[in-house]
Amino acid sequence: MKRVDIGLLGCGTVGRGFVHLLERERTRIRSRYGVDLSITRIAVRDLAKQRPGVDERLLTTSALEVIQAGDIVVEAIGGVDLPRSLVRTAIALGRDVVTANKALLAESGPEIFAKAAARGVAVGFEASVCGGIPVIRALQRGLAGDSIESVAGILNGTSNFVLTRMEDGTSFDAALRLAQERGFAEADPSLDIDGHDAAQKLQLLASIAFAGQRPATFEVSGIRDVTAEDVSAARSRGSVLRQVATAEESGGTVHLRVGVREIPDCDPLARVRDECNGVVIRGRSVGDVFLTGRGAGAMPTAAAVLSDVIEIAVMRLRQEAAPGLRLAKAV
Ligand code: NAP
Ligand code: HSE
Repeated sequence: MKRVDIGLLGCGTVGRGFVHLLERERTRIRSRYGVDLSITRIAVRDLAKQRPGVDERLLTTSALEVIQAGDIVVEAIGGVDLPRSLVRTAIALGRDVVTANKALLAESGPEIFAKAAARGVAVGFEASVCGGIPVIRALQRGLAGDSIESVAGILNGTSNFVLTRMEDGTSFDAALRLAQERGFAEADPSLDIDGHDAAQKLQLLASIAFAGQRPATFEVSGIRDVTAEDVSAARSRGSVLRQVATAEESGGTVHLRVGVREIPDCDPLARVRDECNGVVIRGRSVGDVFLTGRGAGAMPTAAAVLSDVIEIAVMRLRQEAAPGLRLAKAV
């Protein structure tokens, strides 16, 4: 049995979810994949905070200690500057990295992926887009044989939670508070409600779907100005309001847009409620592929993080068995 040590940076919504999920799934992973995943160190900001179910002896405020202690480093701190410097350090020290951080990748993805490729380490980022929905894998692998024409979807769980709760009569502010309490919102929730979080995710999806073509246009607006009257007017017309992100390629040009759209009840995206996300990927041969599921929250996001960790651990195991094997996930 190969033991794989994991250094966990951050133990908030996602990090704690990861600790709990791994504890629950560890035996199954050992017997199914032949790797024993063990969290060896966890970096936090505040050692005094109560963290039920987390072994206090693993906690430290030294992120470097965590990076040094792991074969794989999981980044779940959030923000851009600090995680960028920690991820750079982890890569420089030859650690594989898994991150849920779309803000970081939207800003510095190309640099991070290039550094990782040069150092021969992997960067997994399934959790950074659409929480538990395997949309990155779908684009990178499942649909690799087709040309993608468009990607359209609900990519921000908090905005969707607010809009669908408003349909039930909850006020905007109360719905947003509830989304924050449940751990769906970003530390700065204006990233959610002003469309920036969805824009970062859309940028990542487009960079995979359209192989790094720079978008010609990128329009971003959020849900901040949506009123209860707007929501009920849409309902009276047999439709709903949703924040929809679209990436379309036509004639070699890519256009990105995030904004509130009125969509009819019969549209599959209209049935995506609460913190769920939904994405329609249109392939030239395959037509429309619709993926939906929980797009935010501790356990769905932790599931995506854990699948990246398993994939990297198994890849390393195979490399040890056949040293000539090249990295499949040096993205
Ligand atoms: P969070 O609940 O705010 O947790 C952040 C964690 O980072 C906390 O444990 C915090 O420590 C720790 N931290 C902050 N600054 C630190 C520092 N200087 N040194 C060491 N630790 C530090 O955030 P989250 O919701 O888990 O989100 C984490 C990342 O996942 C973000 O990039 C977010 O966009 C992404 N994401 C979140 C979700 C979701 O549903 N929440 C879903 C997908 C992706 P303390 O606990 O001591 O404060
Ligand atoms: N704040 C994000 C959202 C978390 O609400 O979708 C998941 O990426």
